[in-house]
Amino acid sequence: MFRVCGIIAITSSSRREDLGHLFVEALKRLEYRGYDSVGIAIVDQNNLYIAKNTGTVESVAKSEGFTFFSGCSGIGHTRWATHGAPTKNNSHPHTDCSKKIAVVHNGIIENYSELKSLLLSRGHLFISDTDTEVVPHLIEEFKSTGLDAYSAFKKAISMLRGTFAIVAIDVSEERKLLFARKVSPLIIGVGRGLALVSSDIVSVLPFTDRVIVLNDDEVGYAEPDRVFIETIEGFPVDISKRVVKIDYHIENFDKGPYEHYMIKEIYEQPYFLTQTLSGLISSRDEVEKSVKLLEVADTIYLIGAGSSYHASLLGALYFRYLGFRAQAIISSEAIPYLRSVKSGDVIVAVSQSGETIDTLLAMRESMRRGVRVVAIVNNPLSTIARESDAYIYMRSGPEICVAATKTFTSQVLVLLYLGLMLMKDHQHTETVLRTLRKLPEITTSIIKSAEDTARKLAKKLSSEHSVYYLGRVFGYPISAEAALKIKEVAYIHAEAYPAGESKHGPIALVTHRFPVIFTIIGELDELIEGNIEEMKARDAYVVTYAPRDKTTSVIEKNSDLVVSLPQASLETSLVTYVIPHQLLAYYTAVERGYNPDRPRNLAKTVTVF
Ligand code: G6P
Repeated sequence: MFRVCGIIAITSSSRREDLGHLFVEALKRLEYRGYDSVGIAIVDQNNLYIAKNTGTVESVAKSEGFTFFSGCSGIGHTRWATHGAPTKNNSHPHTDCSKKIAVVHNGIIENYSELKSLLLSRGHLFISDTDTEVVPHLIEEFKSTGLDAYSAFKKAISMLRGTFAIVAIDVSEERKLLFARKVSPLIIGVGRGLALVSSDIVSVLPFTDRVIVLNDDEVGYAEPDRVFIETIEGFPVDISKRVVKIDYHIENFDKGPYEHYMIKEIYEQPYFLTQTLSGLISSRDEVEKSVKLLEVADTIYLIGAGSSYHASLLGALYFRYLGFRAQAIISSEAIPYLRSVKSGDVIVAVSQSGETIDTLLAMRESMRRGVRVVAIVNNPLSTIARESDAYIYMRSGPEICVAATKTFTSQVLVLLYLGLMLMKDHQHTETVLRTLRKLPEITTSIIKSAEDTARKLAKKLSSEHSVYYLGRVFGYPISAEAALKIKEVAYIHAEAYPAGESKHGPIALVTHRFPVIFTIIGELDELIEGNIEEMKARDAYVVTYAPRDKTTSVIEKNSDLVVSLPQASLETSLVTYVIPHQLLAYYTAVERGYNPDRPRNLAKTVTVF
């Protein structure tokens, strides 16, 4: 079972009339983490008020009157569940019997049934089916022995098994946000007369740019002007060394003039690819540290989930193309592979969020076996970045849409750059870098070349049930990412296949006008012309994306639609040729009436398996 939720808690030195408003804004920023139900608990003048329900932040905030709440402190939560229907009772926050303590939680409490039985035998009353509800009752139980709120909280935490980020509030100490972390991420925002606790930087940033990232097995409390942290064993943590300043700009979190984050983030690629490249060139120490680890690797294993796995596939192919031994592995499948990984190998953990649990666990297992880890992340404060031996920060800006777009292209760029640095062929690297410096123009031109076709093709695809994405060699990982995009946001069944392999099964499904989309990358492999002909011969509706100067008469003759794309080098195409597919997925989702930013059943960051 896995669950991904968003947590935000705020405490202020003065009573705030706008506290409800602050929660609505913060929760909206967290909604991309989960959107089954929403809730807040507000403490005001010795009273605890709970408002929660199923639905979006906007609808629940309206129906439950979030904006009418004033007070000095509160906790809020957006929930995303895969098991059990999301109901009002199961929504967070959860409370104890006396309704004086409220708790929000992300993660799984594995031993909740035994704790629940214990608490039931002690007379506690439960109203939800959640594991979380044991926490407020445990705190209540320990408080009844005479402990203050924090000591009772700490004792409750010490009884939990599993993974969690927990924040609690108690009316008896209304300006204290009690928190604990084990695996699931949690950060503290330190403002002026204001403290916040959240699962995510996005909800803290409007208030402060100074944060503390909690480590595993740390507990503590935040008051408006003071933060206290200690390890679960009771060793105090020196806060002064832990406060970091974050350099995200708040405007990057807003949709601006765009209808959806997805299209905003697709359009941002010319800019953020430049940021990624200039970051790589200017942060020499960061890159050198990673290259030093990689250059002595026997085999480089690249691990990732979702789009990050597809970037890993492309990266591994490129490393091999350059002559290095490399293999991509899906994070959740990695453990058995790791048995044969030796200490001379190196792992590259690819993760936009730097928090994906499967990637983190695979990385930890590798490190336990003495294998060094280089991480590629878009959040330098993330767990994966902090636990790796070296990491590269992608500098893609925040990505809010659940489906990855700009972070995928940045990941690919980072991997290609690492490959080039490993080659140690200065002249070749300079030649390729010259073409990569043209990425802003090329990317803009790709968007221009593909936009109209994407809109038109979306109309055709919107009534389809199934589509194939085919490519050879480098064209295959791009096809895999293209298929993932259209599945995620437009809910159309899509399958990516190596084009040559498609005649060993998939072609059996191809009948009149079945959509088959080819992507050709780099040098024209003549064999792909044969694959296109094979599909046309079965009366498929063939679309071919190909470099401008590689569209032969065979391709023209056998494709219903050819989209010619600019290319300055193999590397620029590896980074950019997914963009037409991102646009196609976006416009198909819109055509079918779906909100691409909030694909059903999906979450941006999967922090619990
Ligand atoms: C989720 C997201 C995907 C993402 C994957 C890996 O499934 O919906 O967009 O590619 O996680 O996330 P990561 O943060 O590790 O790159």
